[in-house]
Amino acid sequence: MLGIIGGTGLTQLANLEITHRQVARTPYGEPSGALTFGRICGQEVIFLARHGYGHTIPPHEVNYRANLWALKDHGVDRVVSVATVGGIHPELIPGTLVIPDQIIDYTHGRANTFFASDGSKPVTHLDFTYPYCAAMRRALLQAAARGGIRLRDGGVYGAVQGPRLETAAEINRIERDGADMVGMTGMPEAYLARELELCYAAVGAVVNYAAGRGLSADGIQMGEIQAVLGEVMQQVRHLLEQLVTDEASGACAV
Ligand code: HPA
Repeated sequence: MLGIIGGTGLTQLANLEITHRQVARTPYGEPSGALTFGRICGQEVIFLARHGYGHTIPPHEVNYRANLWALKDHGVDRVVSVATVGGIHPELIPGTLVIPDQIIDYTHGRANTFFASDGSKPVTHLDFTYPYCAAMRRALLQAAARGGIRLRDGGVYGAVQGPRLETAAEINRIERDGADMVGMTGMPEAYLARELELCYAAVGAVVNYAAGRGLSADGIQMGEIQAVLGEVMQQVRHLLEQLVTDEASGACAV
């Protein structure tokens, strides 16, 4: 089953026919909220709002382990993770959707593994050369192509700690490192999904120029983020509909 993790601007899915909600408990504590079970175009999915349904949990306090564990525990084997990002690459202007293919992790102090030193789950070093699931990335790209949704294929996601935004010098450094976009929630989520053997890919929704770039040359305007957010999340909803429609062999016209 498909799991969808929604970020800022996507705390609910208008196109999701909700069947029920379920509070989930995990060995790692509680997820960000109850799991929302439902159907999009007849296909069963589980939705979870990463920051809580009232958007109250900041990126560094999200219980990423509980979120992914709960999804897997309820039958999810594939995850699409939606997250807003700031654009560094010149093509990643606000309003753009992007399917990243690489990650640089700048986060710290987050519970970033299910492996435990108490021997209950002995530490293993997993391959993470290609952090995203190729099959899920392909499915998203195909869905976008079929749905006429503009999407950039590939890019390096710089996962920063937040909750503050970056300085212009930090963005320059992150760009020199090779990142094309910057966001606060990509890690450890992607890696934890790998530990759980979930097929995981992300959709980045560019909502602002990164600090010091483009219209953010003099600072990031929160009003501009809000203005872009609604429009770009509408595109994300179309993309998700198209994705599940593809899987349901065209059961619902979008
Ligand atoms: N920086 C970090 N995270 C973000 C940004 C940004 O500019 N925009 C959206 N999430």
